[in-house]
Amino acid sequence: MRAETAAEPLAGDLGKPRNAFIAPARTAARWISRRLLPARAGQRLYDTLRGGYGYLFRRGILIASVVYDTRRFIRWSFALRKPRTRAQQRAFLTMKYHTFEKGLALPQPRPGFGQDRLAELLSVLVPYERRFGCDEVVAVCVKALAAYQAFNADHGVRSADLDALLDGYLAKHPQLAQPGEGGTKPVTRDGITRAAAVDFESFVLHRHSIRDFASKPVDRAQIAAAVRLAQRSPSVCNRQAGRVHVYDDASRIGELLRYQSGNRGFGHIVPALCVITADLQVFASPGERFQGWIDGGLFAMTLIYALHAQGLGSCCLNWSVTLDIDKPMRRAAGIADNELVIMMLAVGHLPETLRVACSPRKPLDEVLVYHEARP
Ligand SMILES: Cc1cc2nc3c(=O)[nH]c(=O)nc-3n(C[C@H](O)[C@H](O)[C@H](O)COP(=O)(O)O)c2cc1C
Repeated sequence: MRAETAAEPLAGDLGKPRNAFIAPARTAARWISRRLLPARAGQRLYDTLRGGYGYLFRRGILIASVVYDTRRFIRWSFALRKPRTRAQQRAFLTMKYHTFEKGLALPQPRPGFGQDRLAELLSVLVPYERRFGCDEVVAVCVKALAAYQAFNADHGVRSADLDALLDGYLAKHPQLAQPGEGGTKPVTRDGITRAAAVDFESFVLHRHSIRDFASKPVDRAQIAAAVRLAQRSPSVCNRQAGRVHVYDDASRIGELLRYQSGNRGFGHIVPALCVITADLQVFASPGERFQGWIDGGLFAMTLIYALHAQGLGSCCLNWSVTLDIDKPMRRAAGIADNELVIMMLAVGHLPETLRVACSPRKPLDEVLVYHEARP
């Protein structure tokens, strides 16, 4: 177990990086007010700046953080330019083949739908396959396109280009003819309702944020099983931005929790720490600038429930930070610039007995709003 001193969360220490901004600002304000303005006016300006100092500082760091987030979104997404990195191209392909999957899953797909999307998909698929070979994204694209081709053929619509492309891929990669995921699959109401008939209410009502853990390591296989389920979370066009970085070494956990402000009193007993991130490379338009937090949040929720299903406890640890905290933590954690940190998650086994916060919820009528038809 980690030494108390190393692990004690240091909210106070987190002020230090901020002081690096404060000191020069103070010196500059003093210099300007004393040297450039008449004595009394200078003193008045300095006092004003000092009085509004907290506000000015917070405003400055807020603007700097928004610029930091936006610059990273511009650098890593393909919102403003064509997809170039492999991850961006995979996201592009996923987005495009998923158009066909979605179209085929409608109650009455229109024969020949999505011809313009097909050209866009092929413009990236062909060079991608040439460069990176037949990986799983190419395989899913081919299967989705084969399902689309079969649907159109059933309705008398043929595309010579698509036929030639699919024939070419199947000749080159015979494994693509094997059954696999891609396109659509038939399901039944009965099948879904039977499989979903778990006591979800009890499951949800017995999940609590856990701030007391047994001193037992968490098996990596359990985390892997939970992450596999978290991968089933919905994500925009199935682009799957969610990532998890796991640390189960006590000194590494201690090092990272020093950057986090909400683990005081239990950070030192956290057996495993997850940092949940979203890969900005999967986002495709300016409108998706907040999608990382949305998809990352959904991913995190499924992960929390999947851990709960295995009897593991967890506690979300906020990553509501500005750039001066985000940068050094990311460096210490070995998390690349293209990943947006969503939150940390403390994970561990439950002790025999423990206390949890009641955390009462708001009345339902504050949360649930029905809107009637307009008169
Ligand atoms: C994004 C997020 C960040 C959170 N950060 C912290 C934190 O830093 N420290 C902590 O003790 N709890 C944290 N929590 C847990 C909340 O306090 C908790 O979810 C809430 O009070 C409801 O309680 P429950 O999870 O037990 O139902 C966080 C929760 C969320 C969703």
